[in-house]
Amino acid sequence: MTPVAEGGTAPQDITAAAVASFEGSPDLRLREVMQSLVRHLHAFAGEVRLTQEEWERGIRLLTETGHVTDERRQEFILWSDALGLSMLVDALAHALPAGATETTVVGPFYVPGSPARGYGESIAELPAGIPAWVHGRVLDLGGAPIAGAELDVWQNGDDRLYAVQDPDAPEEHLRGRFFSREDGTYAFVAVRPVPYTIPDDGPVGRMLAATGRHPWRPAHIHAIVRAPGYKTVTTHIFDAESPYLDSDAVFAVKPSLLRTFVPRSADDPDRPAGIEGEWCSVENDVVLSPGEDDREVADPGRTA
Ligand code: BEZ
Ligand code: FE
Repeated sequence: MTPVAEGGTAPQDITAAAVASFEGSPDLRLREVMQSLVRHLHAFAGEVRLTQEEWERGIRLLTETGHVTDERRQEFILWSDALGLSMLVDALAHALPAGATETTVVGPFYVPGSPARGYGESIAELPAGIPAWVHGRVLDLGGAPIAGAELDVWQNGDDRLYAVQDPDAPEEHLRGRFFSREDGTYAFVAVRPVPYTIPDDGPVGRMLAATGRHPWRPAHIHAIVRAPGYKTVTTHIFDAESPYLDSDAVFAVKPSLLRTFVPRSADDPDRPAGIEGEWCSVENDVVLSPGEDDREVADPGRTA
């Protein structure tokens, strides 16, 4: 006799039976996750009184999500991003001490293996916007410099695209790995980032349109900072003057990550070699907390 047949067929009996079906799981963590998932999924369906037709639409949406997902596009993660789940999981995983640089989403455009570039070099292989001198120090919680920290950076250009979205862009355009010097300092030339939309031509985009939400992200540069003996931090440098800081489509803005991009003139005496015309500069110290790298961010399945 099944648990349902024993316990009745009312909604709460169905939930109880589905929860009980995991009692025998040899993996206790899996049991906890599956039972909680069933409880919350059933509570959701009960709360909104999910209709048969809505259930079918949901299944169609998931099916389509699978169909548009491949090694270049990850629509499931985009759902997680757009529903705030990615930032929630990140917040649960990274309870960092006060003063440490905060984490945020990695996003779908990270490509591992960016070229190592020297102090002060540019990540732009083609003109891609107003040059931005990005500089700062990598420090520990006590303010001591961390030498040899790796800053793995990537960004979009003024056409709003990341290199991986543009078949005409060189593969290594707008990305690079830099290393802090003995005194913890680092610098590179980026471009002033511009806001852009998350991929919105699939099921996630349709959900945003149907619910009156916009697909925009505020302007930012991505960085993953790694150093032996310290926790890896996946973060952004947000342009403090960007639109959409208060309505990021993926909920990834943290006030501590906002930075001022200072406009500089062509004849500014501090203009770094190799920069022509107008430029801007942004100072961004990164503070790492001691510990181990919990997980390497290197899933090519995220690349859009
Ligand atoms: C990004 O910042 O690259 C990004 C993050 C989440 C979804 C889409 C894009
Ligand atoms: Fe981004």
